[in-house]
Amino acid sequence: MRVALGVSGGIAAYKAAELVRRLQLERLEVQVVMTRSAQQFIAPLTFAALSGRKVITEMFAEPGQAPANIDSAIEHIAVAQSIDLLVIAPATANTLARLAGGIADDFLSTLYLATKVPVIVAPAMNVNMWEHPATQANLETLRARGVHVVEPDEGYLACGMTGAGRLAGVESIAKKVCELLGIRHDFEGETLLVTAGPTCEDVDPVRFLTNRSSGKMGYALADAAARRGARVILVSGPVQLEPPPGVERVSVRTTEEMHRAVLARAAECTVIIKAAAVADYRPAAAPTRKMKRSSGRATLELEPTPDILADVARTKGNRILVGFAAETDRVAENAREKLRAKGADIIVANDVTQEGAGFDAETNIVSIFTRDARAVSGNVAPGFSPASSASDIREINLPKMSKFDVANRVLDEVLRLRGRAV
Ligand code: CTP
Repeated sequence: MRVALGVSGGIAAYKAAELVRRLQLERLEVQVVMTRSAQQFIAPLTFAALSGRKVITEMFAEPGQAPANIDSAIEHIAVAQSIDLLVIAPATANTLARLAGGIADDFLSTLYLATKVPVIVAPAMNVNMWEHPATQANLETLRARGVHVVEPDEGYLACGMTGAGRLAGVESIAKKVCELLGIRHDFEGETLLVTAGPTCEDVDPVRFLTNRSSGKMGYALADAAARRGARVILVSGPVQLEPPPGVERVSVRTTEEMHRAVLARAAECTVIIKAAAVADYRPAAAPTRKMKRSSGRATLELEPTPDILADVARTKGNRILVGFAAETDRVAENAREKLRAKGADIIVANDVTQEGAGFDAETNIVSIFTRDARAVSGNVAPGFSPASSASDIREINLPKMSKFDVANRVLDEVLRLRGRAV
């Protein structure tokens, strides 16, 4: 998501630099827009370096000059249409007056008029200016139009006076931004282990058995959980994806390696999500030399691989265990059976033959089967699950949605099992 940060000219302008960093922690792209007077307090270069983007300082280029830092004469419209939120911090008394009066005499005030996204103002000024009826009336006008105001703090002000007018803390402003953008931090304190992608089982030194998993569902889960504040360990088979920011990736190739990586880290995790498409069988013997073509039929003998999910369930404790079931038929029956047989708390099932639900798609169509919350805690021996009747299982059938949205719905179910409202 993209946020425009308007900086107007007050001594608190330097604090906006910290706000850029804080918003970036939420993985927001920040486009800084400065008024002329803001540039008296802090250089645009500071914001350009922090945000990694050019800073918009002017509405128009000087006469006779090529546009200095605008791509076109209607850049304010392009910015207005590309952002999800506008936050102005600090907002001076003059800026508030211009916004309230609908004056569009620079880029920031024009952007305010041109955008339909939520707007936050965080005022900062001298206490007398803050308390002045003109300022308060302007704020009332803005509030009545739906502008969100992050009230200034009280305290010692740069002018030497004490009172209200100090720019609200960066945390309070960031909190309002998150609230309006629907960014949640409800996984703080949780450690998630997510498995993703396929596993590969060698047939000989040049050939292997694998499957069509792209890893996209598992990576979307890791991304969504990290954004919601979890520490995330991503145990990944070979895929063509970059790990999401802030996620610790452990790369594995075979089922045996994935088994080892998961069991070694299970103890430190509170939630384990097995989105990987794990090979159920591997060649019983992988010759060290390449198999040669022979005239007759060849037979490959396969042996079962360890069932990672079932092994984790043996010592699950209060951990929430989520499995996936990619099916081609009898989806609901198979999912309910896996919930029982594997000792999982949630099974996310999909019919991979459906359009928009298969491997490598950007979307998924899933049903989430959740064990009744009362039966979740304690060790569960596979095959002896307390969820023995159909009424103990909650079934949610979701429409086609992006894998990222599916990931968030699965995480919502995890929280519901924890007994936390979502
Ligand atoms: N799984 C696992 N270890 C395996 C095989 C599967 O941990 N050796 C996990 C998968 O990551 C998935 C869940 O078990 O979360 C269900 O996988 P799936 O292949 O659908 O189930 P299987 O038990 O292998 O049953 P089948 O292939 O017969 O449908």
